[in-house]
Amino acid sequence: MRETSLPSSERLEAILLVGGQGTRLRPLTLTTPKPLLPTAGVPFLAHQLAKARAHGVSRVVFATSYRASMFTDAFGDGSAFGLEIEYMTEDTPLGTGGAIRNAADALTCSSDAPVLVLNGDILSGHDISAQVDLHLSRGAAVTLHLTEVEDPSRFGCVPTAPDGRVTAFLEKTPNPVTNRINAGCYVFQRSVIDSIPAGEVVSVERETFPGLIEAGELVLGYADASYWLDVGTPAAFVQGSCDLVQGRLRSPALPGVTGESLLLDGAKVSPEAKVTGGTVVGARATVKAGASVRGSVLADDAVIESGAVVVDSVVGAGARVSSGAVLREVVVGDGALIGPGNELTSGVRVWPGVTLPECSVRFSSDV
Ligand code: GDD
Ligand code: MG
Repeated sequence: MRETSLPSSERLEAILLVGGQGTRLRPLTLTTPKPLLPTAGVPFLAHQLAKARAHGVSRVVFATSYRASMFTDAFGDGSAFGLEIEYMTEDTPLGTGGAIRNAADALTCSSDAPVLVLNGDILSGHDISAQVDLHLSRGAAVTLHLTEVEDPSRFGCVPTAPDGRVTAFLEKTPNPVTNRINAGCYVFQRSVIDSIPAGEVVSVERETFPGLIEAGELVLGYADASYWLDVGTPAAFVQGSCDLVQGRLRSPALPGVTGESLLLDGAKVSPEAKVTGGTVVGARATVKAGASVRGSVLADDAVIESGAVVVDSVVGAGARVSSGAVLREVVVGDGALIGPGNELTSGVRVWPGVTLPECSVRFSSDV
């Protein structure tokens, strides 16, 4: 992969924002922060880190808050990932801008160097090196990766002028003026990060970016149409995992070949079961004869009994789905038990350890 046109004396440093609580992904995030959720066989962040490294990043500062020690346990000093990793933890969350400013104390680059800043819940196929090159060649203060989505009201809406200059930053506005949104990957001049007030709660989206635009600084957009996904909801999380397994987004961190399914160590799938659509079958998880699993994530030690149907769902570690149960767009927490005959659909979330007893009610008209 092409690296940036940075002089070789400068190594590219990155700040990874991973302090959010992942509320929309509960119950999955009750015990594991969103960026550490197993995704296509590895912690989610492993995909982002492998990509950053392939684009010349050598040192990453994690901006942590929620369950900070779990990040250290998972990534250590970074050497296993070919990176140097540092951790900067906020006692209370400082917001995205405050977190970037806090993490900057651990950067080693000079004030005129570019720094890559990444939201920790994004899968993206865009060319980071091209974004950095654009930033350097235009002498921008900040360069934002932009993408287009159908519903921009859930994101930061970012209109641009024909020369790429960002003209406004409208975070989660009910009346978006364009479908072009902030894709959560920035190149900042280090000096711009240093100008964010230290030790305060600051939103980069609601304060820093609008302030820079207002002050006439050059905030640029790097727009492209490559694969892009924010995995902040259960549906998006499942989608991202399946897309990685099926090769819609190439990741250097995928622990296997792309295809209809990814079976992790010790997974057991009966030859009479159907496992398709980019499903991950976790370590030691079991799918029994006659079961059908499509487009789903089965965590380690999960069990899908004979004849159960699981579609577009997450089944937590050690959870069990009994014979004849049907799950569509459901999240089952770790260790939960879905009794025989239950039909769960559209956004149902079963909390960890809960048991749903056998459901003997028949919904068909001939009962
Ligand atoms: N350290 C730290 N401290 N990290 C934080 C904090 C904090 O106080 N608050 C949020 N984060 C991290 C989250 O962990 C996540 O990686 C990132 O900042 C963005 O937070 P989200 O909660 O995922 O925000 P969002 O998805 O609603 O919106 C953001 O991302 C969109 C793209 O997916 C915004 O940046 C939008 O403008 C953008 O369009
Ligand atoms: Mg997000």
